[in-house]
Amino acid sequence: MELTLDGFARLARERLDPPVWDFLEGGAGEERTLAANAAAFDRIWLRPSVLRGASRPETVAKVLGRTWDAPVAVAPVAYHTLAHPEGELATVRGTGAAAKVPVVISTFAGRPFADLAAEAAVPLWLQVYCMRDRSVTRRLVEHAERAGFEALVLTVDTPHLGRRLRDVRNDFRLPPGVVPANLDGDGFATPSAHSRAAFDPDLDWSVVDWLRSISALPILVKGILTGADARRAVEAGVDGIVVSNHGGRQLDGVPGTLDVLPEVTAAVGGRVPILLDGGVRRGRDVLAALALGADAVLIGRPVLHGLAAGGAEGVRDVFTVLLDELTDAMSLAGLRTLAEVGPELVSQAPSPH
Ligand code: FNR
Repeated sequence: MELTLDGFARLARERLDPPVWDFLEGGAGEERTLAANAAAFDRIWLRPSVLRGASRPETVAKVLGRTWDAPVAVAPVAYHTLAHPEGELATVRGTGAAAKVPVVISTFAGRPFADLAAEAAVPLWLQVYCMRDRSVTRRLVEHAERAGFEALVLTVDTPHLGRRLRDVRNDFRLPPGVVPANLDGDGFATPSAHSRAAFDPDLDWSVVDWLRSISALPILVKGILTGADARRAVEAGVDGIVVSNHGGRQLDGVPGTLDVLPEVTAAVGGRVPILLDGGVRRGRDVLAALALGADAVLIGRPVLHGLAAGGAEGVRDVFTVLLDELTDAMSLAGLRTLAEVGPELVSQAPSPH
């Protein structure tokens, strides 16, 4: 088994067609934000406490009133079928084999919601792109709710897909058979064309009220990067916030997510849970995010790397490595539970900006 998540990335790169690898791995523009996500974690130093008898750390986390085995969920990523023919089916199986944590299923999942729900030993959440044709979004949400999904994650950073130059250069097209299994009709060869035709680019905060009017599920908004927007989201009545720059795939030039987390944490003031994604690759990254105010993190690309490397078992192994690292780091830092994690756990090297 690989020893680090980077090892799974190397395996995935060997196995995937180069244009598919570029689609999964790439960011928008010059990929400055993609690099910033990783760099923000690299600037963090941990400050351990010694002689605290922390040999068996407890990774359970409480989020939105539910207990998770660890504070790490699966971020919504379109078309897991690009990385493995079983797609999201393998993802939910593999995640469940390692830990009971939520898997956020994309609007563009390659497998039907009902099949995933039948398979899943983990909570399923639905990521929502709000379409111009609201009846499409309404059907999607109703369908997921009927299948037993437990929360909605409304992505708010994507009026249309960002300009991902690798995909432009490769003229990236979805391979035959890779289709959005939960949307009617599939006449779009590229994700970018689909987003421009279908997404509502003129959304405002009233979309939260609309979503609440069609569903009783908790609503999180994904793509918050400032304290002002976090405050606005809480005022709009959301149940949680996901600090995210879409893995560097939307507006290039925004900071790494960990860098904006303290501002968002201060603005939210504990009123709703905060999740974060972007560049989480090591157990100690999870601790850094929690120290700066996150209740949990999500991982995107590493799950796809596990899928490409070995289907459900690959996903299980990715979680196993990450959670082993988390337990190891907690023990060495003198942490018995995640409730003991606070801002005093980290210091930061000065930012280059
Ligand atoms: C994404 N992401 C994403 N987000 C979303 O809300 N809906 C989606 O359908 C997708 N699709 C998608 C496809 C691919 C290939 C990637 C890499 C990412 C963004 C995703 O949820 C998450 O924000 C980032 O992937 C997190 O960063 P890391 O963990 O990949 O660094």
